[in-house]
Amino acid sequence: MSIKKAIFPVAGLGTRFLPATKAQPKEMMPVVDKPLIQYAVEEAYAAGVREMIFVTGRHKRPIEDHFDMTFELEVALENANKTELLNVVRSVKPKDMECIYVRQAQALGLGHAVLCGQRLIGNEPFAVLLADDLMMGEPPVLAQMVEQYKEWRASILAVQEVPAEHTRRYGIVAGNLVNERVMDVSKIVEKPSPETAPSRWGVAGRYILTPGVFHEIAAQPRGVGGEIQLTDGIAALLRREKVFAYRYEGRRYDCGSKEGFLEANVELALKHPELGDSFRAYLQNLEL
Ligand code: G1P
Repeated sequence: MSIKKAIFPVAGLGTRFLPATKAQPKEMMPVVDKPLIQYAVEEAYAAGVREMIFVTGRHKRPIEDHFDMTFELEVALENANKTELLNVVRSVKPKDMECIYVRQAQALGLGHAVLCGQRLIGNEPFAVLLADDLMMGEPPVLAQMVEQYKEWRASILAVQEVPAEHTRRYGIVAGNLVNERVMDVSKIVEKPSPETAPSRWGVAGRYILTPGVFHEIAAQPRGVGGEIQLTDGIAALLRREKVFAYRYEGRRYDCGSKEGFLEANVELALKHPELGDSFRAYLQNLEL
C-alpha cells in the first residue's frame, strides 16, 4: 500500500517573521518565486500523495486561494498567449490532486493539528509535512521515505544529525541502527537539553505515520511548551508498534528561522535555471 494522503499543519501564527506575517501566512512567504507551502506540496505529490489535507486557522485564506483555480488570471494569460506562464499557474494544482481544508480552532500544538486530520485520514498510513522545513533531495525526501515505508511497513521519521547545542529545537530519537541510514527507534523526546538528549539525531519536519498514532496523541497531556506534542504521541506509539528513523539524503533549510530562510533563498536562486548565472555573478561582485 502506498501513501496517498498527507497532512500539512499550517495554522501557526508565524510570530518569528513579524511584521512580514502580520496579515499573510508564513507558509506563503516565497523562496525565490514559490511560496514555502508549494515546495512541501510538490514534494508530497512527487512521492505519490494525491490528497493534501491542510490544517488551517484564521487568516490562512491565501493558502486556499493559492491552490484554487484563478479563473481571471488564466483567461488573461490565455488571451495574451502567455502559454508558459499559464502552465506555471496551472501546475500549482495538478488535476489529479485534491486539496482539503480543516480548521484547527485553537493552536494547541503540532500533535493537536495532526489529530484534526484524523477523520479525513481514516485507517491508513499518511504523511505529515511541515512547510517550515524546506527539503531538497534527489529523489525528494518524502519519496525516499515512502521507499523506506514499503520496506519496513511501519512509521518512518526523517532525521539528521544536529549540533549538541541545538537539541532543544528538535524531537530527538535514539535506538539501534539496522543499516547505515535506518534506526529502529527505542526512544523519542521533544526538545531535550543537550545534557539529557539521548542522541544527536533530530527529527526534521517529515513523517510517515501509521493511523495508530491518532489514538496515542488523543491520550497525551500537554507537553513541552504547554502544547499537545506529536513527539509524545509517537513516544506512546513506540510501545505498541515499531517506528524507524531514516537519515535522509539531501539538504534541509530551516525556514522557520530568518537565517535558514535567507540561506534557502540564496541557494535556490543560485540553482534557478533563469536566475542562477546572473545571481552568482552578482554575489561574486558584491563588496562585502
Ligand atoms: C517540530 C516538532 C519537532 C521537530 C521539528 C522539526 O518542532 O515538534 O519534534 O523536530 O518540528 O522542524 P517546531 O519546529 O514546530 O518547534
